[in-house]
Amino acid sequence: IKRVAVLTSGGDAPGMNAAIRAVVRTATFEGIEVVGVRRGFSGLHRGELQLLGPRDVANTIQRGGTVLLTARSSTWRTPEGRARGAAHLREWNVDGLIVIGGDGSFHGGHYLQQEHGVPVVGVPGTIDNDLYGTDHTIGYFTAVETALDAVDKLRDTGASHERIFVIEVMGRHAGHIALDVAVAGGAEEVFIPEDGKPVADAIAVVQDSVAKGKLGSIIIVAEGYPGGAQGVADAIQAETGLETRVSILGHIQRGGSPVSSDRILASRLGEASVYALMEGRSNVMVGRGSGGITYTPLHETWEKRKDVSRDLYRCAKTLSV
Ligand code: F6P
Repeated sequence: IKRVAVLTSGGDAPGMNAAIRAVVRTATFEGIEVVGVRRGFSGLHRGELQLLGPRDVANTIQRGGTVLLTARSSTWRTPEGRARGAAHLREWNVDGLIVIGGDGSFHGGHYLQQEHGVPVVGVPGTIDNDLYGTDHTIGYFTAVETALDAVDKLRDTGASHERIFVIEVMGRHAGHIALDVAVAGGAEEVFIPEDGKPVADAIAVVQDSVAKGKLGSIIIVAEGYPGGAQGVADAIQAETGLETRVSILGHIQRGGSPVSSDRILASRLGEASVYALMEGRSNVMVGRGSGGITYTPLHETWEKRKDVSRDLYRCAKTLSV
């Protein structure tokens, strides 16, 4: 192969720039040219392509967001949109496309390969850590640190006022961030979409905390839990009358300089994505497991479910005694 293209798509994640850099530099090392696509699949559809050299990605490894920009594309969901994107890749003599993103982006890459024969390799970039086939996704470690920092601060004010804080963290369909933050932040209770735990459990937990003389309670709720943090807080307030506050951390969790684990993961996976294309692998996501680099068919990354750690879930409960 002589030329590869790279894009970032869907929600941005800290470490995406480190992944782009790794793609550009690995390809350069191997004598392959790189085309950067701006604004994800929307930009590909519109033909926003440009050559990228190793100096173009200098000074980016520490930066949050994505220098290639990103988008959630509706046009790409149509066969016509994908056909135009494929035509741009042909015009630019691109031999393979590296897609850095989450499950929505991998759907886009999968259909592009199926319909137009463009070899596609996915690199997992999403704070949600919800892709099957890799232990962790790029951006997840940083998002957990950001959320944890906020929880620690809320704990200070919560304990001073002896209030209950119900804190919502991101995770559209997944509780990975919530569970890590709950254990690392010493929360009394955690609600995740993977578990059918009723909201009434929160009431028993806060009543128990008061009985034990705790100076307030921290309850972590994943965004994807039905009713979210507000639903949990409303139930507590209505049933117990205890002073309750809600804090929804939101998009702050997507920003910031990536922590070292995300930079290293992004560097390894960006490198592996170029070698995957060189070895003739496609329609796969590169990931990292305990045995090293893994290759998972793109459709399996969203069809198979990556469960949260049940050990950690149990641990969260045990330690809140
Ligand atoms: O997929 C990452 C994520 O941050 C989810 O946790 C969240 O539900 C979603 O993106 C928010 O998307 P948007 O930035 O489009 O509002």
